[in-house]
Amino acid sequence: MTTLVDATLIAADSALRTLFAPHRAGRVCPTVPEPMQAEHTTPLSTEEKTLAGALMRVNHVGEICAQALYTSQALAARLGPGTHAHKEALARHLEAAGQEETDHLAWCKQRLDELNSRPSLLNPLWYAGAFGIGLLAGRLGERVSLGFVVETERQVEAHLDSHLDRLPLQDHASRAIVAQMKADEVRHAREAQNAGATELPTVVSGLMKSAAKVMTTIAHRV
Ligand SMILES: [Fe+2]
Ligand SMILES: [Fe+2]
Repeated sequence: MTTLVDATLIAADSALRTLFAPHRAGRVCPTVPEPMQAEHTTPLSTEEKTLAGALMRVNHVGEICAQALYTSQALAARLGPGTHAHKEALARHLEAAGQEETDHLAWCKQRLDELNSRPSLLNPLWYAGAFGIGLLAGRLGERVSLGFVVETERQVEAHLDSHLDRLPLQDHASRAIVAQMKADEVRHAREAQNAGATELPTVVSGLMKSAAKVMTTIAHRV
């Protein structure tokens, strides 16, 4: 049985590893097939590299937040009501999705390095904020917690779509990563929906969009 101390230590370990340890992806970093690359072979200009770096920094922040959300929601699941087996099943569902977000985190960091860019200086702040929001969502019950996953993943999907419009056409490496992330986020939303998610009130999804807008605007620069 997982105790409060165990669950808190798991969450603390996850936070420290997310913020301060290098991440190893479980899957190979996605790339675009060569015939598609041949259509746009011009090297990136300095301006394009700067733009791609800023967009990938925003995506990296999104993945830091994803780690915080899945970790805190799994923690809340373990501390919530219900049988041990049921709580553990929900926590493991959330952690499995979080594991795929680790791939996203590693791919975004790798691409930031290749673009001579850097992660957000405010990552500990983003992590703490997302952790608190995830804990709150998790404490509101299983169906709300899963509903929060669905809404978050849908908003991330729309956000990644907008980045596919904005990234330079010849930045195949960033585009391939964003496209694979988008496919994974769509599946995370579907799996949470199938697990019994409830629809969140419009006002809550509106607040989530506003919070995400603040984060993406700041992370674009800092
Ligand atoms: Fe992700
Ligand atoms: Fe996701």
